[in-house]
Amino acid sequence: MKKDLISMDDLSVEEIKDYLRAAHIVEDMSLEKRVQYLPGRIMAALFFEPSTRTRLSFESAMHRLGGSVIGFASKDATSVAKGESFTDTIHTVENYSDILVIRHPGEGTARLAAQESFLPVINAGDGSNQHPTQTLLDLFTIEKDLGKIEGLKVAFVGDLKYSRTVHSLIRALMKLNVTDFTLVAPEALRLPHYFMMNDQPGRFRFYETERIETAIQSCDVLYMTRIQRERFPDLVEYEKVKDSYVLTAEMLQEAKEHLRVLHPLPRVNEIAYDVDKTEFAGYFPQAGNGVIMRQAILLKHMGVEL
Ligand code: CP
Repeated sequence: MKKDLISMDDLSVEEIKDYLRAAHIVEDMSLEKRVQYLPGRIMAALFFEPSTRTRLSFESAMHRLGGSVIGFASKDATSVAKGESFTDTIHTVENYSDILVIRHPGEGTARLAAQESFLPVINAGDGSNQHPTQTLLDLFTIEKDLGKIEGLKVAFVGDLKYSRTVHSLIRALMKLNVTDFTLVAPEALRLPHYFMMNDQPGRFRFYETERIETAIQSCDVLYMTRIQRERFPDLVEYEKVKDSYVLTAEMLQEAKEHLRVLHPLPRVNEIAYDVDKTEFAGYFPQAGNGVIMRQAILLKHMGVEL
């Protein structure tokens, strides 16, 4: 068992499957049993970047395991605002807690924290790089909703350039024998080529298109993403692409019956509210699965055998 959870690239297929297995065990456990696992243990939630789902689901997960939580939701309320360094913050907070959950706009910051600290470090999103706990809950959701992961056709839509959820998930799916991908993005937000690289020529199919209709008809999972204003160096470029895709219920008439529309959330404009009422909408249960998967992650990284 690795001390930290930093990147999906660090995990073997067996390790990924073990997180999924642990999440299923947690899901089947009563709330009364779960709350007995981590009394007296403290999780530090260090969020240098905004979050609703990741921070609150981690906090909920820890409370429901009987533990408690310290931390911050903005660096402005900490001594970082006075000039304290990231590593000094880590070395201070590690005295007050048993596990560190870190979100930061800087790519590589979670790995830096993991190298610096003796505590387990969980990456809750580092810039445009990785969001492994989101990926694990996405995989858990796909497995629950569709009964399997291997062999599914998956489409990613929107900001494939900057989306850390896409970058994490596509690499994990490739490890789990998903070989057929449709990548729907405006030219400026295409998936960087290195995410498609692999050492098995001809094994994977990446079909790149700007048309969402093509993806809707053929895929089993339609993974929508927000165009992330905060990642654009030039806001003029953001304005050009911000409403590239708006999925509506009407557009889903051509979809396979079992299609799941997933989204890491928050959504801005890319999924119309009328999709919420369709059988295809999987994104709010997906957010709910975050508590279960994060309980499994906390237990595993705090040495509890499941
Ligand atoms: N999916 C996700 O990371 O959402 P938050 O930014 O609200 O945590």
